[in-house]
Amino acid sequence: MELADRVNRIEPSATLAVLMEKEKLTARGIDVVDFGPGEPDFPTPEHIKRAAIKAIEENKTKYTPSAGVMPLRQAAIDWHAKYLGSSYGPKECVINCGGKHSLFNVINALINSGDEVLILAPYWVSYPEMVKCADGTPVILETSADDGFIPRASEIEKAITPRTKILIVNSPANPTGAVIPESEFAKILEVAKENGVWVLSDECYSHFVYGDAKPFSIASLPGAKDHVIISASLSKTFAMTGWRMGYTLAPQPISDAVLKLQSQSVSNPTSIAQYAALEALRGGMESVEKMISEFAKRRRRIIDGLRKIPGVSCHEPAGSFYVFPNVAGAIEGNGATSADTVKAAKDLLEHAHVVVIPGEAFGAPGYLRISYATSMERIEEGLRRLDNFFRVEKPVISAAATRG
Ligand SMILES: Cc1ncc(COP(=O)(O)O)c(C=O)c1O
Repeated sequence: MELADRVNRIEPSATLAVLMEKEKLTARGIDVVDFGPGEPDFPTPEHIKRAAIKAIEENKTKYTPSAGVMPLRQAAIDWHAKYLGSSYGPKECVINCGGKHSLFNVINALINSGDEVLILAPYWVSYPEMVKCADGTPVILETSADDGFIPRASEIEKAITPRTKILIVNSPANPTGAVIPESEFAKILEVAKENGVWVLSDECYSHFVYGDAKPFSIASLPGAKDHVIISASLSKTFAMTGWRMGYTLAPQPISDAVLKLQSQSVSNPTSIAQYAALEALRGGMESVEKMISEFAKRRRRIIDGLRKIPGVSCHEPAGSFYVFPNVAGAIEGNGATSADTVKAAKDLLEHAHVVVIPGEAFGAPGYLRISYATSMERIEEGLRRLDNFFRVEKPVISAAATRG
């Protein structure tokens, strides 16, 4: 069957294969420690769930305006202004079905065939695929582990060409957890202004920050609005991944274009979820703060635990709920090339029953993405298994690999 080029150009999610293997083991009754999750292990807070139930009872179950109901658009603008220092108006805000939908819409609203989109590696798996789907060209710019994977404006400037239309930034980042300092954001904005490039800021993890790091948006910088597009998500912040709620903040011509795409595709985000989102944005940050303080403890534990494993090095990320250790030193001589973390992840699942996502999925072989969106008890068990795998079982794996 002949499918459209846009589908043939893109790859299915690289994380899917590992997760399917995990399902097979779980179905056999095997206890698997899952460091794969890209979502908080906390339930959606009660007050948000109740708002959705109330919306159903009040029959708020019909089409809404494509951009979302006005109270929700206003609440998104107000929340972003209060917690991240921006100032947008209702015509500059469109509610989307999750942050991913916002990014997809923005890329499709701006990219013509051959336009370049600058993506910082290690990157979230979907960026290059979304760009390819829009017939754009993803241009990958490596960030350095020695610099905590923080992108530098000077390097970005060197990678810009006359065809560069968008630079995607993601702070805190998936998979590295890197947080771009305010001062670097200011320099990135200057580079974008001088070169006529849009900064598409994916703020999915904005509030997952630890230590001295504070939630920050590039939209709060003076003069940012004409050069910046914000893709925001309620998924992680309010433990609402399944509700599919996110929004775009952008100058009106871009917001209108996003709206046009949306009106001819999904029509509107689910009405009931919109009322849940309204409550999330208006209902205070208490549940968010509780979740973040729990994540902070887990982050400390997992970094300390990983650093004790010979051959594993782990930088200390200031944000998100992932750590991104380099395990190349630990898998060398394992029958795999040092960079082959796809094999390492497969072996880990098969032999130690631990799910991790190989760095290859994010353009970074040699690394593993480990999510600490799981209980402290599972983290302890997972660390024990990882340590055992890299320290003790290594020769067993090595022998198996040699045999076959
Ligand atoms: C970096 C990043 N951006 C965007 C998203 C999309 O989030 P959602 O569509 O659930 O709002 C994710 C989800 O994993 C992510 O990790």
